[in-house]
Amino acid sequence: MTFCYTFDTMSHIVAPSLLAADFLNLERDVSLVNQSEADWLHFDVMDGVFVPNISFGQPILKPVAKHCAKVVDVHLMIERPELYVEEFVELGADYVSFHIEATRHVHRTIQLIKGAGGKAGLALNPHTAVESAFDVLEDLDLVVLMSVNPGFGGQKFIYRTLHKIAALKDEITTRNLDVHIQVDGGVGLHNAEKILQAGANVLVAGSAVFKSDDPTDTISRLKNVGIENLHF
Ligand code: DX5
Ligand code: ZN
Repeated sequence: MTFCYTFDTMSHIVAPSLLAADFLNLERDVSLVNQSEADWLHFDVMDGVFVPNISFGQPILKPVAKHCAKVVDVHLMIERPELYVEEFVELGADYVSFHIEATRHVHRTIQLIKGAGGKAGLALNPHTAVESAFDVLEDLDLVVLMSVNPGFGGQKFIYRTLHKIAALKDEITTRNLDVHIQVDGGVGLHNAEKILQAGANVLVAGSAVFKSDDPTDTISRLKNVGIENLHF
């Protein structure tokens, strides 16, 4: 199957993931993102329960959000996110995404984020049917399709995700909604175009950016994906 959605070149969003940054030089790496063509900064919170890894949380978000000139995009990989979402908004998150698999109260959690003044995202693990987001689609600002099993950076992109992107894009278009489709995990210059063609508009990239020789240039190339195919 080929995915032939014609994406609007340059209008997509690039969100470098801080998980792959140098933690001894966070200020430097946030500044790098500030001065780059990146649109958002992706901030991965892991609790060691929902995912088999622990990253960082509120005490790190506060200074990062303060220093960050871009949209702060928090991805919560934690159990019972409803207990924490308001706090993350108060600490400077613009978007707060939580996992559908991590709570019994998806609709309530979305309302908590919005009530605190944030934008709400719902994240789906690779095994979760994309249709499970459909009954709250109207309430959402963002759907995060995980293209790796959450918990670690540097994993391989699961190509089945392309079908989920296309199905979600169809539904959003049919219902004439304004919901971002974010793809998270294993995204890089080798597959960005395919992901955008399938209908996604937010690319999260950790290792592809921060482990590259020139992160600023990689961000720029991710932002300009597709432009070389245009004929003026
Ligand atoms: C994985 C995280 C991702 C991670 C992506 O659980 O949610 O945001 O930072 O890292 P890469 O781009 O290296 O796959
Ligand atoms: Zn993430």
